[in-house]
Amino acid sequence: MGTWQGEIHGTWQGDRGHGTWQGDRGHGTWQGDRIAFGADYNPEQWPEQTWATDVELMRRAGVNLVSVGIFSWALLEPTPGRYEFGWLDRVLALLHDGGIDVDLATATASPPPWLAHRHPGTLPRRADQTVLWPGARQAYCPSSPVFRQHSLALVEAVATRYTDHPAVVMWHVGNELGCHNAHCYCDVSAEAFRGWLLARYGDLDSLNDAWGTAFWSQRYHDWAEINPPRTAPTFVNPTQQLDFARFSSDEHRAQLRAERSVLDRLVRQPVTTNFMIGTGSKYLDYHSWADDVDLVANDHYLTAADPESHVGLALAADQTRGVARGAPWLLMEHSTSAVNWQPRNLAKAPGQLRRNSLAHLARGADGILFFQWRASLAGAEKFHSAMLPHAGPETKVFREVCRLGADLRALAEVRGSRVDAEVAILFDWEAWWGAELDAHPSVDVDYGDRLRACYDALWRAGVTADVVHPSTDLAGYRLVLVPTLYLVRDADAEALHRYVERGGTTLVTYFSGIVDEHDHVRPGGYPGAFRDLLGVRTEEFFPLAVGERVNLDDGGTADVWTELLHPLGAEVLAGYADGPLPGVPAITRHQLGDGAAWYVGTRLDRAATTRLLTRLLTDAGVRPAADAPPGVEVVRRRRDEQSWLFVVNHTDEAATLAGTGTELLTGHPCTGELTVAPGEVAVLREHP
Ligand code: GAL
Repeated sequence: MGTWQGEIHGTWQGDRGHGTWQGDRGHGTWQGDRIAFGADYNPEQWPEQTWATDVELMRRAGVNLVSVGIFSWALLEPTPGRYEFGWLDRVLALLHDGGIDVDLATATASPPPWLAHRHPGTLPRRADQTVLWPGARQAYCPSSPVFRQHSLALVEAVATRYTDHPAVVMWHVGNELGCHNAHCYCDVSAEAFRGWLLARYGDLDSLNDAWGTAFWSQRYHDWAEINPPRTAPTFVNPTQQLDFARFSSDEHRAQLRAERSVLDRLVRQPVTTNFMIGTGSKYLDYHSWADDVDLVANDHYLTAADPESHVGLALAADQTRGVARGAPWLLMEHSTSAVNWQPRNLAKAPGQLRRNSLAHLARGADGILFFQWRASLAGAEKFHSAMLPHAGPETKVFREVCRLGADLRALAEVRGSRVDAEVAILFDWEAWWGAELDAHPSVDVDYGDRLRACYDALWRAGVTADVVHPSTDLAGYRLVLVPTLYLVRDADAEALHRYVERGGTTLVTYFSGIVDEHDHVRPGGYPGAFRDLLGVRTEEFFPLAVGERVNLDDGGTADVWTELLHPLGAEVLAGYADGPLPGVPAITRHQLGDGAAWYVGTRLDRAATTRLLTRLLTDAGVRPAADAPPGVEVVRRRRDEQSWLFVVNHTDEAATLAGTGTELLTGHPCTGELTVAPGEVAVLREHP
């Protein structure tokens, strides 16, 4: 290339910018000497005079990384094959001169209007064949070869032009792939689905067996007869639905891989894309995507309807670290205050922006970015908060942004360290898809419900968990929680069995181990795959009516679910006092080899869940990161002998904990006792 030399005021001499975010490909090898801090920056929404002010204010706030060009396709390629990079050249030069690094988008997130106008077949269709038209964003079918061809041409053009640009330290593929177009049911997708099925099953007999097509006269004799699970008179074949979910995740992943293979030819900076990991994001199996990015990046937004949204945040962060297999990750987007897409968009209280950001950092993030830098004046997101609000820099939000920038500078040394966790929670998108298929015993079984209930109890106990795929090596954990793992593969169930035999402790919750990877029931009694592990056998489910509650003989209550369970070697810890199954066991413990496997066959209330988890933590010898008052979040990051204790005080009262070292946000030494003011955060570099 070399076209950049001299164009950027002679500042570029072929070095790699600030030397940050460079390095080997592969998880956790993202290099940088600072904690990343910044936002999506959409300068094309503003007159050029504003850009210099932006850079000046970014510098004031301590911003060091911005994602540029995410929704710029229609400007960069106004007509097919004609590229206009002038404005982007000027923005990147300004940012570079201001010392701000760029995570440059491949700009493929949303196709320009001309694509659908010329190629209407690129538009996605719902299950009932409704077309999703352009006018919003992401209106493309992920299997469309036409979309693929045009998007890759754009990636090629952008990467060729900016490969050696000194501002560019990272590449950002698309944006939240599959956010609005996760599933497409059009004819192009149908053809691609058939190809995917052929690769998976090889022949029609295998597919017919896997899909159980002997049922309801569904046997296929020709591949051409197979379609996506389109709107049908009644329940569509569940394995067809499950395979379509797998296929759809793979199609979006294929777009990521295709873009990355263009980048791999042309650029040397690390490549990522922003995932949407959290209990609200069901459709993409990010465990299978993790190897396609050089560092895992995630977007997270608080759920206003969640009264403990800071606990939901912690769970999403721990899930993200699980996808990153423990390596540091990047928070690519969150909000400084309200979003605009929930029914009621709650603004953040003073201090909440900081607590949220530092809680992500505590749980393994090495960078904190927001959507977006400057609040839009037009378009569907004009009421979404930003680092720089409509009201300008003299605002609560901008002051808090500047404070956070200073905090992150003070915390630079934690970069690259890892989070301590002695507990694992098994989490799997396939199990989620399976558990929530239709025609099940009760619509009240929600995959994320027990996950969150167990997680809440751990959070309240100050215990950090890695939320990991069921195939993860469990040997290093003292306790493994298995919430609603409806679908489980033989090998993963066997690995859990071995883990317990060798001294591990596990807790399995109801509606787990029920089916194999084809969604076929495991016969002989529930919970099929875990029957021997748990030493129990359930002969029939007894789901409860709406609002119905049952009492347990240990004082707890439960709802949603009961089951006719027989102990087969397990000790009974509690049974039903009433309801449809009085006297039947509800909570059991099975001594197996050197370990123990606990089972809960119902949906315990919060107090009973807490009691159970407290017993389990004691049984397994798990300790909190620190002894802290209720409502105070404690997490430890560690590198070799050095550790940092993060303390996030979510309460209205000062919190005092034991601690010795240096508190990094104030620089104060701490000799024995650490006090954290209401709503504040402390990060203690602990003396080894
Ligand atoms: C994300 C998206 C951003 C912006 C943001 C608003 O899903 O990646 O572009 O729309 O939500 O919260």
